[in-house]
Amino acid sequence: MVKVITYGTFDLFHEGHYRLLQRAKQLGDYLIVGITTEEYDQTRGKLNVKDPLLTRIENVKKTGFADEIIVEESEGQKFQDIKKYKIDIFTVGSDWIGTFDYLKDYCRVVYLDRTKNISSTMLRAKEFPIQRIGIIGTGRIAERFMPEAALVSGVNTQCVYNPHMESARVFARKWGIDACEDLEAFYRSSDIVYIASPHGTHYAYIKQALEHGKHVLCEKPMCLKREQAAELSACAKAGNLILFEGIKTAYCPGFAKLLGIACSGIIGNIRCVEACFTKLERPDSRELRDTKYGGSFTELGSYCLLPILKLFGHDYQEIRFETIEAENGIDLYTRAYLRYRNGLATASCGLGVKSEGKLLISGTTGYIVAEAPWWKTGYFEVHHEDPNEVERFSERFLGDGLRYEICDMLSRINGDTRKDFKLTRGDSETMAGIMERFLTECGRG
Ligand code: CTP
Repeated sequence: MVKVITYGTFDLFHEGHYRLLQRAKQLGDYLIVGITTEEYDQTRGKLNVKDPLLTRIENVKKTGFADEIIVEESEGQKFQDIKKYKIDIFTVGSDWIGTFDYLKDYCRVVYLDRTKNISSTMLRAKEFPIQRIGIIGTGRIAERFMPEAALVSGVNTQCVYNPHMESARVFARKWGIDACEDLEAFYRSSDIVYIASPHGTHYAYIKQALEHGKHVLCEKPMCLKREQAAELSACAKAGNLILFEGIKTAYCPGFAKLLGIACSGIIGNIRCVEACFTKLERPDSRELRDTKYGGSFTELGSYCLLPILKLFGHDYQEIRFETIEAENGIDLYTRAYLRYRNGLATASCGLGVKSEGKLLISGTTGYIVAEAPWWKTGYFEVHHEDPNEVERFSERFLGDGLRYEICDMLSRINGDTRKDFKLTRGDSETMAGIMERFLTECGRG
């Protein structure tokens, strides 16, 4: 009996898939089809697969060509499967020519001609037109955004705007995109506007982009006044537009897992959340020179407030701040204390003071601890009274992590509402309110 194996995602099942399976089956007597999990696809950058695994399995089953279906979970599994199932022929489409030659030592490798003019990518683009991204701002975060956005299929970064035209030109040249001289031209070339400009400019840019009918992804802190955040979210809602605040932690899989586990009752009732994030900056950095909107809390506070608001909600009874200031009045280190009816929280941020960045969630029967960089949540532990009883959890965090928010935003634009819980409008409004209060108390309101 000749055993054949092939692999694929088989998303939005199409004729190319059908013809490949048909010919794969004809190569032997028994065909095994490996279908990728969502998690595996994500690790290889296929971030917007539309059909869930079960639908994709069902579709392959319906063809009647597969004698057995298995799930492909990781790189390197192919080699194991070939040994395990005693495979004679490995086959895939000709788009993979050469890639799997390393398997030739173990079985025959056959690349079948790919069916022309059809692919899942094309179908996704037809059903969900490519969203063109325009970037405002050309700083460090914009630089990190570019390679991350390139990994999300369904979006294309098209153009950049910076009032300093020369910076826009340099950025555009580096990344092979267009530099727009004026904002009207910029809006015409964008469907999603990614705002990565200094904090103080966010509100005006968001408002203008929404008024031009564009979806907006804005770096944190989206707003520094509660009323402005509420106004913008009402404006987005009225225009049927998506407005996302880019706090990357909120969208990464590890943080979602941590919240899920924290809320599961594993540590009893949550009573205290302590979040700390420090990142030393040079005294001449924008973060420490901008005497109006710079400083530790506006820069890093969003990260630390995130787990607090997600776990305790928006109705804190009291908030107060303590800061260590530089000579120019900027906060080098800030600690915010929040009191809730049933718990306490602290958010500690530093640009000029280094501390142990940690997220500690204490409950009535145990605690959860995530060490720095917990804001790129990859690993955390659950501890109980017995020090030997430790549960360890890990989750992937790929690259700079911006791909997760871009991907979620795209899903929302394409009509998926399931991910709304990750960062709600209410979360963004409460955060803006806290920033406003902080700046007012510092005399910078
Ligand atoms: N395939 C094919 N002809 C096509 C499309 C896919 O023969 N027109 C083959 C691929 O080479 C692979 C299998 O079908 O062996 C599963 O491919 P998959 O990656 O799931 O499909 P694509 O349409 O290529 O998906 P995408 O556009 O997301 O890469």
